[in-house]
Amino acid sequence: MVWVVANSNVALVKYWGKADEGAKHPAAPSLSVTLDSLSTAASVELSDDSKEDRIEGLPAPAGEKVQGFLNQFRSRFGIRARARVRLASNFPVAAGLASSASTFAALAKALVVEASLDLGDGDVADLARMGSGSACRSVYGGFVEWRPDGAGSAVEPVADKDHWRLRILVAVTSERPKAVGSSAGMRRTAETSPYYSSWIESGAVDLVEVRAGIRARSLSRVGPAAERNCMRMHAAAIAAVPSLLYWEPATIAVMRRVWELRERGIEAYFSIDAGPQVKVFCEGESAKTVEAALAATPGVLRVLSAEPGDAPRLVAHPPAWAADAQAPQRPSRAAAS
Ligand code: PMV
Repeated sequence: MVWVVANSNVALVKYWGKADEGAKHPAAPSLSVTLDSLSTAASVELSDDSKEDRIEGLPAPAGEKVQGFLNQFRSRFGIRARARVRLASNFPVAAGLASSASTFAALAKALVVEASLDLGDGDVADLARMGSGSACRSVYGGFVEWRPDGAGSAVEPVADKDHWRLRILVAVTSERPKAVGSSAGMRRTAETSPYYSSWIESGAVDLVEVRAGIRARSLSRVGPAAERNCMRMHAAAIAAVPSLLYWEPATIAVMRRVWELRERGIEAYFSIDAGPQVKVFCEGESAKTVEAALAATPGVLRVLSAEPGDAPRLVAHPPAWAADAQAPQRPSRAAAS
């Protein structure tokens, strides 16, 4: 049995659209930062004696996604053994905090190690992508790019986690699972939004700017490009039919709070994925002021704080927050949220 802890990531430039739905290749390049403190622990035990898989620690719909992933893993590598999988996250699942990224990165790595497959990170990323597109970026630490490449896609680290101590503050505004999942949301945007093609075109431009800004450790280059990328993704999604609006009133209150901070000369920028949470980027001394301003915004439940984090790692014991996942009789944190 192995335990792996993997981190979530937040995309500074988002992909929101697939060129190949089945193989989950993106229609646009994306660039994310892996987060040190938003993590999922996965344990996997393979057994030839069991007749079925056991998946513990996730609500039913998420468990079905994991079941599909296990089936794909077995058919890809010609494995017959059944798996006992235990999962726990230290943050709300399925609410736009990229829990699927950390879940499938952890699971892919744990399956590969437990099955003694001799695979490199690229192959683990390829496997993780089958669970959730964004999961392939969480197979690496630091700043990671994922781009269309020929008929497929390629994942590549841009800078390691120690390159730049960017702060990422997550204003949590709701812990309810989102109504429309990201795969369905992207499909609807691609099929019905008149702005989809402009969104895909503009993403390529944002990527060049954000990548250069990361290399130069320049928040004033990365921030504006990341924020406009987020707004354009949501503009395309809002224009879909029926409209996809992932924001809550508190989401907008936080966006306005970030703009107010900038007017006062405090550098902070936001990004929002397919959910109501707001991820705010800032640096150094200003982080305390930004964190206090976010926490004081009406509707903000709590603020999580992160910095660039590591690639998935094998651990001898589950972290304390995942301890519930060892005792299947009790509900895990992930199942309870
Ligand atoms: O790949 P998924 O299903 O986790 O969708 C990710 C969608 C966004 O977070 C909005 C964009 C991204 O690039 O991470």
